[in-house]
Amino acid sequence: MTAIERHTLLLQMQVVFRAAERDDLPKLEWYGKYTHFRQVFQRTYEEQLRGQRLMLLADVNGFPVGQIFIQLENYEDLWLDMRKRAYLYSLRVMDAFQRQGLGSALLREAETLLRAQRYDSVSIAAAKDNLGARRLYERHAFRVVAEDAGRWSYVDHEGLTHYVNEPCWILEKFLR
Ligand SMILES: CC(C)(COP(=O)(O)OP(=O)(O)OC[C@H]1O[C@@H](n2cnc3c(N)ncnc32)[C@H](O)[C@@H]1OP(=O)(O)O)[C@@H](O)C(=O)NCCC(=O)NCCS
Repeated sequence: MTAIERHTLLLQMQVVFRAAERDDLPKLEWYGKYTHFRQVFQRTYEEQLRGQRLMLLADVNGFPVGQIFIQLENYEDLWLDMRKRAYLYSLRVMDAFQRQGLGSALLREAETLLRAQRYDSVSIAAAKDNLGARRLYERHAFRVVAEDAGRWSYVDHEGLTHYVNEPCWILEKFLR
């Protein structure tokens, strides 16, 4: 077989950062890669409607190529002042779109939103074996404050419960 000459085409893409809509839920499964999280996406979306969570997407041509979810909390501190804190999780970018700054942009977008709503602090977990994620968060001024056994469970699209065991670092950043 003769070698095929390679040609290149330089593409410029617009990325829109926005909250998930109901139509996005099947797309978040990324053609089978995250089908097992169908119920998780559905529940998270319902909590977004109630103002308890936010599903922030990086949309290219109507498709969510990246995401970060935000859990929003109010709590009383030691002095009984009301505080607002948020927990970032499920940050992911489709393989083909990685290493172009999208993960960083999602973190920045989340932070900007939280600052605008006067959140006091934000935290995120990095699996202990995910050095790249920890490096990314530390570059964004998150600092390790604790470790966690990272035990949680979810029910997949067939109704089966899965138990996850993923020891992680908890990183935190103060916003005010
Ligand atoms: C972690 C994750 C979200 C990062 O997304 P990303 O879009 O690749 O993130 P960024 O592009 O902002 O940064 C990643 C790396 O690309 C580099 N980078 C950023 N822009 C770049 C560019 N234009 N050209 C080349 N490299 C670039 C960054 O310096 C960084 O390098 P480093 O990892 O060596 O420190 C992504 O790797 C991912 O989805 N991983 C799987 C899921 C996961 O592990 N999530 C974290 C859960 S704890």
